[in-house]
Amino acid sequence: MKITWLGHNCWHLEIDGTNVLVDPFLNDSPTAPVKADDVEAEVMLVSHAHFDHIADAVSIAKRTGAMVLTNFEISNWLAAEGVARDHAIGMNPGGGYDVKFGRVEYTIAHHSSSFQDGSYGGNPGGFVITGEGKRIFLACDTAVFLEMKLIGAPGLDLAVVPIGDLFTMGPAGSLEAIKLLGPKKVLPCHYNTWPPIAQDAGAWAESVKQHTNAEPVVLEPGGVLEL
Ligand code: NI
Ligand code: MN
Repeated sequence: MKITWLGHNCWHLEIDGTNVLVDPFLNDSPTAPVKADDVEAEVMLVSHAHFDHIADAVSIAKRTGAMVLTNFEISNWLAAEGVARDHAIGMNPGGGYDVKFGRVEYTIAHHSSSFQDGSYGGNPGGFVITGEGKRIFLACDTAVFLEMKLIGAPGLDLAVVPIGDLFTMGPAGSLEAIKLLGPKKVLPCHYNTWPPIAQDAGAWAESVKQHTNAEPVVLEPGGVLEL
């Protein structure tokens, strides 16, 4: 499994040869190493309706024909925007969907979810992805929540957690999240995109080593982790 950070909460995962794209925010992202036209996707995951997660979803879904897994309200919006109706899969927390490399489950998140015009974007969520015999969790935009204990119970090879603070949990909250999730490795995200969410990822990694059993991995945008 190959995991590439495209800045913010945008990730490209190669799982059993399938291109998976998470929360496409590229053309207007100050830290994205690629543009929306440069990425491949057969499966796309969209966690909630905020622009910094959904901005390039429609154009990439139309160009690639990707199967988009997201919440029910965003799936309806994608279809209204011209994405093929049977390629926009509407989920809700607790639900899962079988894909060719394995399975994707939609989890809860403590956050909000509205489109740019203020209209309702459904419940925000995160994703548990199972494939290549591995289990990974992308928390996406959220505070720490106690049910992370349940998400981690079957074992996690990797957790991806926000550390930016202000809009999501910050470094201190992420340590509590990591303790509840108990992953083997942990990647930080949703920081350093703009000044209000600037964080010292090196200092964060030191705290993770000191206070949890997880191995922190800090990437630069464009950086790759192989699992
Ligand atoms: Ni958000
Ligand atoms: Mn966000």
